[in-house]
Amino acid sequence: MTFTEKDLIIPQDKLKAGTTHWQSPSNIAIIKYWGKHGVQLPRNPSMSFTLQNALTETKLSYKPKEEPTAGIELDFLFEDAPNEAFRSKLVTYLDSLLPFYPFLEQLSLKIQTVNSFPHSAGIASSASSMSALALCLCSIEDDFFGTLGDDTMFDRKASFLARLGSGSAARSIFGGAAVWGQTDLVAGSSDEYAVSIEDQLHPIFKSLHDDILIVSSEEKAVSSRAGHRLMDKNPYAPTRYAQAHERLSALLPALKNGDIEKFGEIAENEALTLHGLMMTSNPSYLLMEPKTIAMIQAIRIYRKEQNVPVYFTLDAGPNVHLLYPEEYISDVRGFVHSELANLLDEGTYIPDFVGEGPEEV
Ligand code: PMV
Repeated sequence: MTFTEKDLIIPQDKLKAGTTHWQSPSNIAIIKYWGKHGVQLPRNPSMSFTLQNALTETKLSYKPKEEPTAGIELDFLFEDAPNEAFRSKLVTYLDSLLPFYPFLEQLSLKIQTVNSFPHSAGIASSASSMSALALCLCSIEDDFFGTLGDDTMFDRKASFLARLGSGSAARSIFGGAAVWGQTDLVAGSSDEYAVSIEDQLHPIFKSLHDDILIVSSEEKAVSSRAGHRLMDKNPYAPTRYAQAHERLSALLPALKNGDIEKFGEIAENEALTLHGLMMTSNPSYLLMEPKTIAMIQAIRIYRKEQNVPVYFTLDAGPNVHLLYPEEYISDVRGFVHSELANLLDEGTYIPDFVGEGPEEV
């Protein structure tokens, strides 16, 4: 599927104003996407759970341009205030979509967006924000052209457009869990968009918790764009890409069978691999903090001593995602309060869990 089959230009007499409004969640990768080529094409397949609470709400209003002009016309408000840095990134993104969406040049656009999580919590918002915007764009396409009536087509196109903005955003379109990147292990998988694997999850994973333990809420030391680029010269890259395939092939049966131990082993190895890759890149980045390591050690001791299946993963930063089945919530929360509270930045953690995916507002 190329998504360029149709010449999407709105006939002059059909031009009109309208609004679309979506909320879309962030996701947490278990098999990490790290290393890309082309326009956000992944070097290996990745798998993530879609979250429920950490989300972006985006309202996209459009009206016919007063004068026909070349390029994107965009007014932008982030949390009710203008933000030129974000606006200009979005103009670049929307411009890059013109080969697929020439009609965007016919419209004057206004984007209003808010996040449910604190801006400074150190949670990457690109997955939720780019997926919310991509869904709004698909609603406009469907409204004017009726080309995406079928849900599968709609989600696939939204995932494709989200990917062009931020790779990992491709996975947020789907509730439960998704795989992005071509693999023989998942029917219909593609480098161009993600596919749902929700129907391949054992119930234990459909309600898995992810408490995000905030170690530091500072901006990331390295952007993911720069991080991906470092993989091009990382001497371990080929081995890593092969390993991601192997781990996915061990993970999928564990997800199906409810094998939480195998799942946890893979999740933790992947997190440490991601950080190991950053440490062994040139320049090298050490994104864990002493408190990250203290938490990891405490989690491993607690798991062993109390026999509670709680595991961690990490994103490209110091914060720790605590993953555990719903039935252990009171044990794990007790552990967080008694043993991890002093390691948390201002005592903050953000409770989240596997969610149902984006919703039209
Ligand atoms: O989507 P990007 O370009 O921000 O890359 C995200 C990469 C990781 O979050 C580190 C891993 C992943 O697969 O989400």
